[in-house]
Amino acid sequence: MKPFDELFVGHPAILAPMEDVTDALYRKLCRNLGADLCVTEFINVEGLLRGCKKAKQKLTLAADDQPTAIQIYGSDPGRLAEAAVVAEQAQPAFVDINCGCWVPKIARRGAGAGWLRDPVAMVEMAKLVVGTVSMPVTVKTRIGWGPEDQMPIVDLARRMEDVGVRALTIHCRTAKMGHSGAADWSWVARAVEVVDMPVILNGDVKSAHDAKRAIDETGAAGVMIGRRAIEHPWIFREVRRFLDDGVLIDPPSVTERLNLCREHLVASVAHRGEPRGVFCTRRHLGGYIRGLRRASHLRQELFQCDTLAGCLDLLDRFEGMLAA
Ligand SMILES: Cc1cc2nc3c(=O)[nH]c(=O)nc-3n(C[C@H](O)[C@H](O)[C@H](O)COP(=O)(O)O)c2cc1C
Repeated sequence: MKPFDELFVGHPAILAPMEDVTDALYRKLCRNLGADLCVTEFINVEGLLRGCKKAKQKLTLAADDQPTAIQIYGSDPGRLAEAAVVAEQAQPAFVDINCGCWVPKIARRGAGAGWLRDPVAMVEMAKLVVGTVSMPVTVKTRIGWGPEDQMPIVDLARRMEDVGVRALTIHCRTAKMGHSGAADWSWVARAVEVVDMPVILNGDVKSAHDAKRAIDETGAAGVMIGRRAIEHPWIFREVRRFLDDGVLIDPPSVTERLNLCREHLVASVAHRGEPRGVFCTRRHLGGYIRGLRRASHLRQELFQCDTLAGCLDLLDRFEGMLAA
């Protein structure tokens, strides 16, 4: 396994943790397209400690699923520390603590971004988790709860580093903003100034140009990409090539786009069966084919089809129609 510090050499393009998206299947797909590092969907510490099936599944990492970090969330420091021990046994690249989820049913209970309401408690919690496991612990959070005059993130970054947190991902919005409004990357630049640990920038990185600008403007150690990866996982190879060689590679061809639809459908159905495996691909397929001639028609047809064979047939016929 790569040593922790090497993970952040060369400005990694990181697949963001996303519930119901970044499962083993999607991590593999994004890694094949250039993602340098992946993070699991967040795993509830209570489910994980009870050994519930869903949590166990999310925790299991295949031998070739590296480097992948496991993300956990919860509101009780002791339970987070216990869960981190269990997560450590799955041999991830590191354990990440979610301190950024804004969803009310999670944040209101003090988990996720709820920690930002009490930065002192958040630092103490991180200290406990760091002291309990032997592997590196990182934190993913937001710039503040909002709408503070002065965001706590810069001071938090310093204090997190002091208690042994090894890297910090900053989603550059407040918890109150949810996913709306523009991410303010300048907070990453301010955090980078006060710590030596890697600071990862997250929020609104949607292209290779964005990634380069984010790193150049802020000194971030890497970029974490969420929503854009759902519809355009090719972003990872585009970012990688642009950061490494300054080359803007061509967008994926029609064949590549349709092949990714097929690959994703086949893998998802193999994993989940029908029709669930088909349903689970729908949030991706529309993005994969966006921009193609008559894509909206194909999208509509795919969304009405519940079977793998039916979807594959639609894709074949569409390809034939484009070639005609
Ligand atoms: C569907 C979805 C699920 C998400 N689940 C998680 C999660 O499990 N853990 C987490 O830290 N953030 C989660 N997020 C937030 C993303 O990791 C990321 O911080 C956010 O989308 C901003 O990045 P972006 O602008 O690149 O999308 C989720 C976001 C989306 C859209």
